[in-house]
Amino acid sequence: MVNRRIAEILRNGQPDESLIVQGWVRTKRELKEFAFIEVNDGSSLAGLQVVLNQDLPDYDKILKKINTGAAVEVAGILVPSVGKGQRIELKAKEVKVHGEADPETYPLQKKRHSFEFLRTIGHLRSRTNSFGAVFRVRNACAYAIHQFFQEKGFLWVHTPIITASDCEGAGELFRVTSLDLTNVPRTENKSVDYSKDFFARPTYLTVSGQLEAEVMAMAFSNVYTFGPTFRAENSNTSRHLAEFWMVEPEMAFCDIEGDMDLAEAFLKHVFKHVMETCPEDMEFFNQRIDNTVLATAENIINNEFERITYTQAIAALEKADVQFEYPVSWGLDLQSEHERYLCEQLFHKPVIVTHYPAQIKAFYMRLDEDEKTVAAMDILAPKIGEIIGGSQREERLDVLERRIQAQGMKLEDLWWYLDLRRYGTVPHAGFGLGFERLVQFMTGMGNIRDVIPFPRTPESAEF
Ligand code: 4AD
Ligand code: MG
Repeated sequence: MVNRRIAEILRNGQPDESLIVQGWVRTKRELKEFAFIEVNDGSSLAGLQVVLNQDLPDYDKILKKINTGAAVEVAGILVPSVGKGQRIELKAKEVKVHGEADPETYPLQKKRHSFEFLRTIGHLRSRTNSFGAVFRVRNACAYAIHQFFQEKGFLWVHTPIITASDCEGAGELFRVTSLDLTNVPRTENKSVDYSKDFFARPTYLTVSGQLEAEVMAMAFSNVYTFGPTFRAENSNTSRHLAEFWMVEPEMAFCDIEGDMDLAEAFLKHVFKHVMETCPEDMEFFNQRIDNTVLATAENIINNEFERITYTQAIAALEKADVQFEYPVSWGLDLQSEHERYLCEQLFHKPVIVTHYPAQIKAFYMRLDEDEKTVAAMDILAPKIGEIIGGSQREERLDVLERRIQAQGMKLEDLWWYLDLRRYGTVPHAGFGLGFERLVQFMTGMGNIRDVIPFPRTPESAEF
């Protein structure tokens, strides 16, 4: 007999097929002469209905052991289902209970739990419908991202996690220290010399792989990174994590227009792939989490994004008939309420805002002719705000040096980055997509802590 995943059985299974399924019990319903259990193995939202007949060996003993949460292995034969809700079901011939789950203490009972409660049992929440759907969609997004870039001939490059540079210049870094704790009892950790740095210089967890991606783009033309990044910003919001994943393509011989075109095609591709491969999960989000999820996906796939300059955005916000909490004025950064107004009230779709004031953007962005703005582009999404931040990079050595110094940074710390402008410099551009914000946008999940398996936020890093 063959072991099969439940998603595949629900799709292709035919009556009379003998097979084995392995998974966790979601529900049990006992009738007089038989019982139904729903088994889920994580491969799909729906589980497989399994029928246990009284004539099974040890029927009563087994039934007692099978409660919500128990791990089971069932060998049986597929039969057409007479009940509503499923095409086929598995008639059990043999049931093995690998691990029981005591109904008195197992926290995931049949009732609906709040996401706040489920965050307190992060090690178990993936066994619920909502988190099952989120992490399947997250996986499909990751697959589609690689597919998109690989099919276009981009090289996936692996940039360091530990770095000596602050790419964004925002000072939101986690410092890396090395502690030699050999032979030091835990209670005496205080006596360790923290100042002796392993790398003989201060190092940090990376906030972005961009600078190193630029190095690689200057050899391979088109590259992308996809990895974890870290920010010590103390923003306890529903859109910030201290550890999040970022996707950062970098293209040589590319300007801001090419950058925007790629970003838009990229988002369309990922949405299309997820709609094609996870239709049940997307339907679930639409029904249970946010009833605009499917319409949003269709909108992304079928309509062009709006493109406006920062200066136009400020003008539109100044004209808006809305009382904003934060001030709007040329030179100030857009707050998430402003970003959301543009997408949700004004254009009803994603908006690409370009050419922000130089003084509010990072040193590496290309200075425009007017020397007031830079060739930046942010993609703002309804309900989320900024989902992508990107720019054409400053490829002119003299201008870049000026910008670095103007921001109070030291040229010698970036000597290798400046070398890229000394030797074979070229117009180039790239962007960073916040992977969790994409998953949030796609699924309609309200809190970013609920789209990453193990969220790290201020004062919270369990496991
Ligand atoms: O706009 P950011 O800071 O841009 C960069 O880091 C550039 N170096 C990217 C590049 O051009 N290669 O960050 C990029 C994106 C944001 O648009 C946002 O979606 C996400 O990363 N992001 C966060 N996501 C979750 N939690 C946080 N604390 C985030 N900070 C940024
Ligand atoms: Mg940004």
